[in-house]
This record gives sequence, structure tokens and C-alpha cells, in this order.
Amino acid sequence: MSASIVAGGETRLQVLISRQQIAAAVERLAVEVRRDYRDVSPLLVGVLRGAFVFLADLVRALEMPLTLDFVRMASYGTGTETSGKPRIVHGLRSPVKGRHLLVVEDIVDTGLTTRFLLDYLGAKGAASVKLCALLSKPARRQVDVPIHYLGFTVPDRFVVGYGLDFAQQYRYLPDVCVLEGAGVP
Ligand code: IMP
Repeated sequence: MSASIVAGGETRLQVLISRQQIAAAVERLAVEVRRDYRDVSPLLVGVLRGAFVFLADLVRALEMPLTLDFVRMASYGTGTETSGKPRIVHGLRSPVKGRHLLVVEDIVDTGLTTRFLLDYLGAKGAASVKLCALLSKPARRQVDVPIHYLGFTVPDRFVVGYGLDFAQQYRYLPDVCVLEGAGVP
């Protein structure tokens, strides 16, 4: 597969995790989550925008009572690298006190964004806060983040597709692909 460049030059896409592998992982994670939350109705917290595809598939695989809300995170600074100062652009609208929260993330990279979000939610009086991430890139981790439910560990490569973007492109790809080329981190 190849793709035309976002900002000039040539980019290459290579499938890293196929749609079939993703579907199997979503089913596996749903079994684990359903087992752990069978007595409570969790509040799933989707982290926009990257987690939207994963969250939609996970929710349908779960087939259990739950509620949903979303947060949108951003980093101070520009570019695709996390600047180290995450902030919440759009917070939760749902009451959190006493709820069992399951944060659903696309990828944990440095861990700075997720760590900030978990601390923020924990301070709001939730009964529990756990994390479900489709991908983890441990080679780049700067802070410790407990991932209770994990789809895949990925190498230190920039990945797109299945909701993940580069400069807002490639979210539509059904597979998780490595993106290479000029301007790609
Ligand atoms: P962290 O704070 O470094 O863990 O980065 C978290 C966010 O950076 C993720 O939620 C993604 O939006 C983005 N990100 C990190 N690595 C990648 C990647 O390989 N592809 C696409 N987005 C990424």
C-alpha cells in the first residue's frame, strides 16, 4: 500500500496489525472487561479523537450495560510530539463520583497524556479508574502508566489507521499501519 504525502514528497504505509487481528483483540478485551465489570455498569471514557473507532467496536463487543462520555486532550505546543504539558480541552459531562471509570485510549506513547488524564479523573472521586488501550509503545515511555487492558504492544514506529492519524489523515484505514516518509516522526 502507498499513499500520497500530506505535505509534499512520498509516504509509505505498511500494515502492522491487520483488521482481523484487531477484531480478535477487541473480542478478547471485551471478554476481560465484561468479566471484571459484571456487577457494575462502568462509565467508559473515550479519549478523542484517536480512540473513536476502537471505542465504537469495543462498546458493541461488550454487549453489557454501560454509559459513555468523552474527553478531548491536547498538548501545549505544536507538532505530533507530546510537548510534556497535556491539558483537557473538553472534559466529562457525566457525574463521576462513585462511578467505575474505564478510560479507552488509542495509544499510550510517552504516557504523559494518559497519566495526566488518569490523575485528573482519580481526583474527581471515581470509585475506580482503569485504562484500556489498543496500543502501547513502551520504548518511548517517560512516565509509568498502568494499562489494565491492552490490545497490542508496538515497536517505536509512527502508526496510523483505525482512528489514529498523522496531521488528521489516515484515520479511515481499517488496519493499523506504519507510516514512513518525509515529515513523519
Ligand atoms: P503520549 O502522551 O505521548 O502517550 O501520547 C498520546 C497521544 O499521542 C495519543 O493519544 C495519540 O493521539 C498520539 N500518538 C502517539 N504516538 C502516535 C502514533 O504512533 N501515531 C498516531 N498518534 C500517536
